[in-house]
Amino acid sequence: MLPERKQILVVDDEPNLRRVLRAQLERDGYDVHTAADGEQALALLHEHHIDLVITDLRMPKLDGMELLRRITALEDPMPVVMITAHGTVDTAVEALKTGAFDYITKPFDQEDVRTIVRKALRTQDLSATEASRPSLVGGLEGGRYGIIGQSPNLVELYGVLDRVADTPTTVLVTGESGTGKELVARALHENSSRRDKPFIKVNCAAIPRDLMESELFGYERGAFTGAVGSKPGRFELASGGTLFLDEIGSIPVEMQVKLLRALQESEFERVGGVKTIRVDVRLVAATNTDLKKEIAAGGFREDLYYRLNVVPMRLPPLRERREDIPLLVSHFVRKFDARLRKNVTGIEPEALNVLLEHPWPGNIRELENVIERAVLFCDGAELRPSDLPNELHRTPEPPLAAPATKHPAPASPAASDGLKEQVKAAMSRLERELIVKALEQTGGNVTHAARLLKISRKGLQLKMKELGLRERDERPEP
Ligand SMILES: Nc1ncnc2c1ncn2[C@@H]1O[C@H](COP(=O)(O)OP(=O)(O)OP(=O)(O)O)[C@@H](O)[C@H]1O
Ligand SMILES: [Mg+2]
Repeated sequence: MLPERKQILVVDDEPNLRRVLRAQLERDGYDVHTAADGEQALALLHEHHIDLVITDLRMPKLDGMELLRRITALEDPMPVVMITAHGTVDTAVEALKTGAFDYITKPFDQEDVRTIVRKALRTQDLSATEASRPSLVGGLEGGRYGIIGQSPNLVELYGVLDRVADTPTTVLVTGESGTGKELVARALHENSSRRDKPFIKVNCAAIPRDLMESELFGYERGAFTGAVGSKPGRFELASGGTLFLDEIGSIPVEMQVKLLRALQESEFERVGGVKTIRVDVRLVAATNTDLKKEIAAGGFREDLYYRLNVVPMRLPPLRERREDIPLLVSHFVRKFDARLRKNVTGIEPEALNVLLEHPWPGNIRELENVIERAVLFCDGAELRPSDLPNELHRTPEPPLAAPATKHPAPASPAASDGLKEQVKAAMSRLERELIVKALEQTGGNVTHAARLLKISRKGLQLKMKELGLRERDERPEP
């Protein structure tokens, strides 16, 4: 018989880190085993039933990557979560490709650890019940909530998701086109106890104005010409589950009143019907228009806005989280490589560089399309710059013009530079951009900026020096 409490194995050569993780995990109700290196870990795995392994990468004897490989080779592998140092995106991606479930970044954010552990254990439970499918836990598919990204603004979003997913609270998801609003709406549903009930999506922009009411609330026979039978609306179809009203900004004003009533009183009538229908529906709405502006222009009711906007979730455009581009690229390369049955396993640094520089007005959808196309055309093992569409190759604007002039940016790579030099230059430009952004957000406070970037204050100071950025104290006030 399996022990009732989940068994977690923590592998790290730093006793302190083991202690911190053990304390938190035990507090969260798990049984914790520890090992100081990969060899010890493997021995323990033979002796005990383990549900989840959390391992550091760099360790003596047998390192985390090798341990991961050995575990994924097991007949019945348990999920593995890697511990990585901040900024080592490459190793993290490598680990995910090798089959890690996810990774956590040092220094730990307690909530992060909690979410990932819970998710990993749940995935394992699910795959254990799906006996027909081999236990294929982890991989890049999924990410956290199926959302790829580890930039601070996404991590914050995961926190909100975690807190509100399993509540009946109405959520308003905003963001530019292609930023993942629908993905978040589905994640809210999937991570709630409604997940076995329907998720019903209504694209308010696609429904003709005079059909909106019958679409949402249904109709009774004879309600209008052509209504030969009766039909339930989307509210009824979503009963017990989640109703996702996409592009809520385009709902006609007269419908807004009816919607507000349905939301406030959880009841409505079908068109042409007399019976009042009550349903238990969780509502998620999304929009890429500025509803505040719509309200000012008289196109959207303020009372409805407040009713919808109980918990706002704003999805940042991709250009505000360029650091997620490498992860997203790996994710999409894998996805389309599998779907298109090619043999593409990665991307050349020079091509990644082009992607890092693009402003992505179409956000993740645009990136996804670019990668799909590139994988399709690629005939090597890695995507090359020539696999990318021409319009991506034009010289981009400098990403942060103002600070860049204050502190001269490292010179752009010359065509004569080798690949390595060009990648290095691109990485330090990206790093610089992120640091400047964090400093701007914190009014130049290095301690706060370091916290945002999840690196030590010392580390940030060193980086700033390296990149020729001065600290505020010695910076002349503008
Ligand atoms: N963080 C992410 N990780 C992985 N895939 C993502 C992410 N965000 C978006 N996507 C993918 O990008 C595409 C666009 O996402 P989605 O449809 O959710 O965007 P949207 O904000 O609803 O856009 P629109 O406003 O145009 O409807 C989808 O294929 C989605 O799976
Ligand atoms: Mg959408």
